[in-house]
Amino acid sequence: MAAADVTGPRGRFISIEGGEGAGKSTQIALLAGALERAGIAVQATREPGGSPGAEAIRELLLEGEGERWDATAEALLLVAARYDHVTRVIAPALAQGVWVVSDRFADSTMAYQGYGRGVALTDLAALHSFALGEFSPDLTVILDLPVETGLARAAARSAADRFERLDYAFHERLRHGFQRIAADNPARCVLIDASGDPQTVHRTVLDAIGHRLGIAVASHPDLGRVTHARTEGKP
Ligand code: TMP
Repeated sequence: MAAADVTGPRGRFISIEGGEGAGKSTQIALLAGALERAGIAVQATREPGGSPGAEAIRELLLEGEGERWDATAEALLLVAARYDHVTRVIAPALAQGVWVVSDRFADSTMAYQGYGRGVALTDLAALHSFALGEFSPDLTVILDLPVETGLARAAARSAADRFERLDYAFHERLRHGFQRIAADNPARCVLIDASGDPQTVHRTVLDAIGHRLGIAVASHPDLGRVTHARTEGKP
């Protein structure tokens, strides 16, 4: 795939993952701000979405009845959106030396459609290999917190989408899935306790970036004013 063939000076690709209400949007806003103040050009993006075509697929995925798509159709739509996002937005940005921070990436499909909805992990891996080749994040931050806490935060924030309406057991499988992904990919992933306040989580994220990517970044000066509120609307 063309997106995997990026050569030359390249930005870093960081994905932020986690279940519902993990505080990803808050952490991405803080991280992007901290990187920019360190003189790094950053593009924040999200999945499903991030390119016009992928945003159109996002609407198909998040709206409507829970059983609108079965898990396999969902995975196919997600990977189509991901391919478009990578080839049109992420890879070109990285090729220009811009760092990309994505709210979710391929691990979400492994966790939600794989561990959560039962699509075989080997099939999902094959699908990603077909669409993306070897392309993957340089660092994946997985925000982990108890299911009750995450769902309560998500409920306080907005009306539930198709995924948030799935049952409690689904969200437990999801959490377990993300924990397994972190354990299975220790060189790429770092699992961070997201139950603390945003400042504490942000500092832990920056520490991880320092250790894994070899860059020291100062934390956000406005931390005291930050809450777990989302930065963008849904879907
Ligand atoms: P968000 O709530 O983080 O904006 O993500 C939208 C929903 O899409 C969320 O409930 C998780 C779901 N999703 C998947 O099921 N699989 C995926 O691969 C991605 C990227 C998101």
